[in-house]
Amino acid sequence: MKFKDKVVIITGGNSGIGKAAAILFAQEGAKIMVADLADALDIELADSISKSDGEVRFIKVNVTKLSDIQEMIEQTISVWGKFDILVNSAGVLGPRIRTEKYPEEDFDKIIDVNVKGLWYCMKAALRYFIEQRSGTIVNIASVAGHLGMVGHIAYAASKHAVVGMTKTAAIEFARHGIRINAVCPGFTQTPMLEGADTDAAYLEALQYATPMKRFGKPEEIASAILYLAADEASFITGQSVIVDGGLILQ
Ligand SMILES: NC(=O)c1ccc[n+]([C@@H]2O[C@H](COP(=O)([O-])OP(=O)(O)OC[C@H]3O[C@@H](n4cnc5c(N)ncnc54)[C@H](O)[C@@H]3O)[C@@H](O)[C@H]2O)c1
Repeated sequence: MKFKDKVVIITGGNSGIGKAAAILFAQEGAKIMVADLADALDIELADSISKSDGEVRFIKVNVTKLSDIQEMIEQTISVWGKFDILVNSAGVLGPRIRTEKYPEEDFDKIIDVNVKGLWYCMKAALRYFIEQRSGTIVNIASVAGHLGMVGHIAYAASKHAVVGMTKTAAIEFARHGIRINAVCPGFTQTPMLEGADTDAAYLEALQYATPMKRFGKPEEIASAILYLAADEASFITGQSVIVDGGLILQ
């Protein structure tokens, strides 16, 4: 089992990509702290992990609050005595509105969660990883970290920022034996995508725009997360691995 005795924190782990990663880590024997804005651990997730070799705990956090993040790390260490892997999957998309009309309130929220919140999580984890002299981080960015995304000015800005933060921290911490990478999903079948737009024609167009002519499955993104978190990726740092059914090739 690849992650036996490894302790993993997954922000946004209660849903979609983070939830799929929690299930895969548990199948590989990991202990997982699901840290999410939700009120309680997702029932399906709890059930799935109870049938695996892994363990799971839940903490309610808002990644935009540094005190929540410090508490998340302290609780994880008090339960399992250490912490090895951080997966930053918490994120928000916001409405689809063209740039000149984009609401400032939504802009600020997206940057707060996707950029500042993710930085808070990296910052708190890295302080611990430096002392431990080991640890790895996988940030969930997006193809919108490499491409423009019509109607999503703040989201595209935030995901370009995640790619930039990943590269910067990777250089800073390489000498400490700490690797930091990102996964950039294309359109993936999760509550974020399903809740984003009630416009069925738009969702169909997104699938059509993907060379594989389908949405990704959360597990397909999760397997890239596990690869980057594993020792087999020991010489990979600062990369943004695109998992998108060929979307970015066009
Ligand atoms: N679904 C896609 O098509 C897609 C594509 C590219 C990138 N992504 C990225 O993947 C990540 C996961 O998205 P998903 O599709 O699984 O979405 P999702 O909505 O299913 O899951 C996101 C989770 O993050 C949590 N969350 C949101 N704000 C939070 C906050 N302030 N503090 C703590 N938790 C918070 C939510 O409660 C939810 O459980 C996001 O960063 C998203 O931007 C998704």
